Amino acid sequence: MKPLNVGLIGYGFMGRTHSNAYRRVPNFFNLEYTPVLKVVCGRDAEKTKEFAKQWGYESTETDWRKVIDRKDVDVIDICTPNNSHKEIAIAAAKAGKAILCEKPLAMNAEEGREMVAAVEAAKVPNMVWYNYRRVPAVTLAKQLIDQGKLGRIFHYRAQFLQDWTISKDLPQGGTALWRLDVAAAGSGVTGDLLAHCIDTAIWLNGSMDSVAAITETFVKERKHNLTGKVEKVGIDDACTFFGRFKNGSLANFESTRYARGHKALYTFEINGEHASIRWDLHDLHRLQYFDHRDEGILRGWRSIHVTDPDHPYMKHWWVPGLQIGYEHTFVHQVADFIESYQSGKPAHPTFKDALETQIICDTVLKAAKTGCMEQVPAV
Ligand SMILES: NC(=O)c1ccc[n+]([C@@H]2O[C@H](COP(=O)([O-])OP(=O)(O)OC[C@H]3O[C@@H](n4cnc5c(N)ncnc54)[C@H](O)[C@@H]3O)[C@@H](O)[C@H]2O)c1
Repeated sequence: MKPLNVGLIGYGFMGRTHSNAYRRVPNFFNLEYTPVLKVVCGRDAEKTKEFAKQWGYESTETDWRKVIDRKDVDVIDICTPNNSHKEIAIAAAKAGKAILCEKPLAMNAEEGREMVAAVEAAKVPNMVWYNYRRVPAVTLAKQLIDQGKLGRIFHYRAQFLQDWTISKDLPQGGTALWRLDVAAAGSGVTGDLLAHCIDTAIWLNGSMDSVAAITETFVKERKHNLTGKVEKVGIDDACTFFGRFKNGSLANFESTRYARGHKALYTFEINGEHASIRWDLHDLHRLQYFDHRDEGILRGWRSIHVTDPDHPYMKHWWVPGLQIGYEHTFVHQVADFIESYQSGKPAHPTFKDALETQIICDTVLKAAKTGCMEQVPAV
């Protein structure tokens, strides 16, 4: 097998999920290339070395620019907070590296456009880690919709609910809490959580036309870990938006980090002319399906256990009935990326696909400020 040398930048939560995926993929997928964990980059030399030892990276760096300069690296994997994606990605594109970037693509659409221009000018393979597309049940939903099983779509509703920032004593900024700091995150739940819902939605149901939104920041000031001072909180703690897709269906989305009892409750439901589907991240291996065309006395919601070999991705894993989980979505994404790397075809979502999500996020935040229905600009 040919080596695909990976340079990982940032070794936090996503650094771990991606490293696991690179290690697992050659065991379960037959691919021409096999990922080689060439170098991991973090700012703390000792901690980076510890990570490298635990996950099997050959070497470490403390400056991401050195990773990009290395001739023995083919792919730059960006797993750092959102405010560094643009600079790293543009430098990587200029160096001719393939780029895998964590979501959201950027801090805002303006940055996203620059990133898309850079990868397109350099003609380098690029992909964004909207991994929920690769949950087999979600991929199955895509297949059912594309086969026309739902008919005309009327409604798409999604929620992403968490409860980890309710305490007013939680600081903002720095390690682990950069998501509360608008300067590092760009936005709150809109860019962090709704971006996932939007990516899945436009993949399943097409582009969006217009949105109206309301956001709230429940805790207005928090101590900042980097300055030690109490500072204004600039992120949206909660966001609810509705709108219209270009196919005429209605959108209804909600996200919050203040839904006591919910940790990562990502759900969506799509209602079509003939059938509806529903999915829930807490039960990710199942797809709920209702078909009005079923015989009357048998009509009802089916709970499809997505574990058969003819279900998406499942032939690569165990035997029917045995389910897989969250980490496998990243393995699938690496496998799909390598296939596209081999064939020269784009691996979706590309930077350009992710720019569309970024534009919708920006439009949602704009609509929350203006209080008006806002048109979603073209990509
Ligand atoms: N696809 C998903 O479902 C998903 C889930 C979580 C996070 N994310 C995204 O992944 C990215 C990282 O999030 P995370 O949860 O892994 O964060 P994290 O805080 O766990 O890890 C971030 C890492 O980046 C490092 N870092 C920061 N600045 C750096 C720099 N200049 N050079 C090198 N390393 C640097 C930090 O030290 C840390 O190791 C974010 O963009 C986030 O939105 C995506």
